[in-house]
Amino acid sequence: MKKFVLIVTIIMLAFTTCGNDPEENVNGFYGNPGTYEIVSYDGKSNVIKVNGAKTEWEVVKYSLLEYKGKEIAIIFSADVRREGAAGDLSWHVNNEGTYPTISYLPNAGADVWHHMTGKLIVTPANDNPSIFLSTWENNTKNTVYYIANPSITIEVDSINPALTPLQSVYKDNFLIGNIINETYMTGRHFERLKHHYNVVTPENDMKPSLLAPSKKGGAYQWAAADAMVEKMLANGMQVQGHVLVWHFQTPGWMIDGTKEEAEANLKNHINTVLKHFKGKINSWDVVNEAMRDNLSPADTEGNWRNCVRSNQSDWEAPWFDKIGPEYIELAFLAAREADPDVTLYYNDYGLDNPNKAKAVRNMIADINERYINEKGGTRKLIEGIGMQGHYNRWLNVENVRCTLELFKTLGIEIAITELDISFSNTGVQGNRNDTVMSENDEIEQAKLYAKLFKLFREYSDVIVRVSMWGIDDASSWLSAGNPCLFDWRLNAKKAFYAISDPDGFLEEYKE
Ligand code: GLA
Repeated sequence: MKKFVLIVTIIMLAFTTCGNDPEENVNGFYGNPGTYEIVSYDGKSNVIKVNGAKTEWEVVKYSLLEYKGKEIAIIFSADVRREGAAGDLSWHVNNEGTYPTISYLPNAGADVWHHMTGKLIVTPANDNPSIFLSTWENNTKNTVYYIANPSITIEVDSINPALTPLQSVYKDNFLIGNIINETYMTGRHFERLKHHYNVVTPENDMKPSLLAPSKKGGAYQWAAADAMVEKMLANGMQVQGHVLVWHFQTPGWMIDGTKEEAEANLKNHINTVLKHFKGKINSWDVVNEAMRDNLSPADTEGNWRNCVRSNQSDWEAPWFDKIGPEYIELAFLAAREADPDVTLYYNDYGLDNPNKAKAVRNMIADINERYINEKGGTRKLIEGIGMQGHYNRWLNVENVRCTLELFKTLGIEIAITELDISFSNTGVQGNRNDTVMSENDEIEQAKLYAKLFKLFREYSDVIVRVSMWGIDDASSWLSAGNPCLFDWRLNAKKAFYAISDPDGFLEEYKE
């Protein structure tokens, strides 16, 4: 027994001397031996004062060793101050040769406190994982730092993999989709994608500026988009092509030059891309966001061409400016010619606005009628209307119903193509580290999702697909508005449960 106690003591001593958990720490944070002390300073007690990190990059750290191999969500905050000179303050996770940033403040002023916060999901993997304040920007490593109120909250295994896949909830109604981007190609995002969704839309990688950034040698950059298509198809997901003609994310070379050159470029681009993905992508957003906003009822009475986004109505409308409103029809004709097997979509936002919806309806009806009556078409040219659905807290779901009724009369398929519901009050898009949502907002958001999906189900004879624009709040382009079904940790939010059972959810949260 004595022997056993001795062995344990020796082992414990060994861990204490060469380990990561010195007794001198504040809430688990400590510095390198001989470089720090714990002091009272500037009215704060328990402050870690670092007298220059000397030889180490890691000024102050918090060991993550006990979480090695486990997926953790880290919530971090600390008040940090540098003495003498301004400089960057950055906290990272030391993880198997990679150093993901948890909180970063460039060129922080000297001799004042900076409240730093951050959150991150990581799986500590190396033999010495930690969260640390770094001196990377500081070659001398002699800066004096003060760290007060350091705090770490760690959630282990916050993920619930047992959720019923949304694609099975809606299997009798429509496809359920989301976007694909580099982040979503692997790991937990990819797992979620594959579990819940049966169709993906590349968030950016098929846009003209990414596929064809340069005219030189006609060089198209297929690698990223190809990798996505291959992986998604191999995993049983369909791919929605997005997007051929748009006023944003389009390289200047396509539109510079004469009207004739722009028309030729438009047709060539469409032809090149559709041919490249032939047999792999059977549905494409051909034209995106051609209709302008702020239309009056009177505007929509006349020719739809007067409602198209132009250099008069908007600061950027390059295709219109060069070719006129005919660029829309030209694009659809080129797409049909390039690959008749593809379903061609017109895609736009703000279609819960009755005037914009009417203008879009008039345009599609006119183009389709003339295609059959005057151009010998044997089927409709525009066979799908994409309602983006970037909604916000002020959405009136009944307006969406009116638009669905209106679009039904076109006799084409409808897709909800970019659904998210932002709860930002200011319209700020966000920086992906600002995902804080009150419980009340989470409930209100979930109710809107429930009402929408109830409505979509009612119209599932014409709605073929409902695609979300983002898996989780932190990776969304609208992170400040927390618009997604999963929070930054990838936990299902109330919105997820609302979509899983709209009737049950609305009953539970009856107004
Ligand atoms: C539009 C586009 C999308 C995307 C969003 C913003 O809705 O259609 O491709 O760029 O804006 O993320």
